Order: sequence, then C-alpha cells, then structure tokens
Amino acid sequence: MTSEQTFIAIKPDGVQRGLVGDIISRFEKRGYKLVAIKMVTPGKAHLEKHYEDLKDKPFFPGLVSYMNSGPIAAMVWEGREVVKVGRLILGATNPLASAPGTIRFDYAIDVGRNVCHGSDAVDSAKKEIKLWFKDDEITNWTSAQQSWVY
Ligand code: TYD
Repeated sequence: MTSEQTFIAIKPDGVQRGLVGDIISRFEKRGYKLVAIKMVTPGKAHLEKHYEDLKDKPFFPGLVSYMNSGPIAAMVWEGREVVKVGRLILGATNPLASAPGTIRFDYAIDVGRNVCHGSDAVDSAKKEIKLWFKDDEITNWTSAQQSWVY
C-alpha cells in the first residue's frame, strides 16, 4: 500500500468556534489515520515562514495576524492520497467557491476566515510537517481497523 502524510491545521477561528472535533471526525471517518496532533501558538516568525510563498501578496500581513490571533490545532494525517483528498475534504480556498459538504462550505463565507489549512502537494506537506513537528512528535501506530479500510 502506498501511503503519504499531510499537514492539516485548524486555524484560530476554527478552534474558537469549536470545530476541532468535527474536522477530526471527517478525516477519521474517511479512514485516515491521525499520527500527530498538538495545540500551538507558534508566533509571527513561524507563521511568516509557513506562508513565505505568499509574502508579496497584499493579504499577507492580515493573514499572518489572523493566524497569530490564537491557538492552532496542528495535525499530521496519514493514508492513501491524503494530500489531495485532504484538500477535497477542506474545500476550495475561497469558501464561496467551495463545494457543498466540504468544511469550508459548511462553516465559512470569507476567504480570510476559512477555518482550516491543508498542504497542497506531497513536497509542501513534507516541508510543512518538518516546520510544525519534531520527528519524535509523529507517532507510528497500526489501527486494528485498517484491514476494513484498505
Ligand atoms: P493559499 O495558499 O492560496 O490557499 P490554501 O490555504 O487553500 O492553500 O492561501 C493561503 C491562505 O491565505 C488562505 O487559506 C486564506 C488566505 N487568503 C486570503 O486571505 N485572501 C486571498 O485572496 C487568498 C487567495 C488567500
């Protein structure tokens, strides 16, 4: 079985609106495996690094201060094609353009308050997991239910 990992984060609005459980549940029910999770307020420099590709965008300062406004639930999820499918579960960046049934459609209307983050490619997932987690924070476990998923 080919498996991969992705970085999923519940942004400060998602945490404060009480959406952590629902978001975790959507990944769990799909059959993905949670291999790391923590609540973190990483600070401005870390958030600027996380979004460094967007540093020239006009929304960058607002994005960083929104992300810095409270704790983030940071996670690593594992499973087949979890990077691509994770983005499908989240929905399009702009909630108004997202498909019904996605997290961003169900819980957001503003691109600047879009509840969650998910890595957009396998390479960026690797980079983001390294930025947000130490190696020993990522667990390696086998679910007894795995044979019912794969
Ligand atoms: P981006 O990496 O393009 O999207 P995604 O989060 O889906 O990978 O943008 C990062 C975040 O920047 C996005 O989640 C919300 C914010 N953002 C804005 O505030 N305004 C915008 O016009 C865009 C494109 C993004």
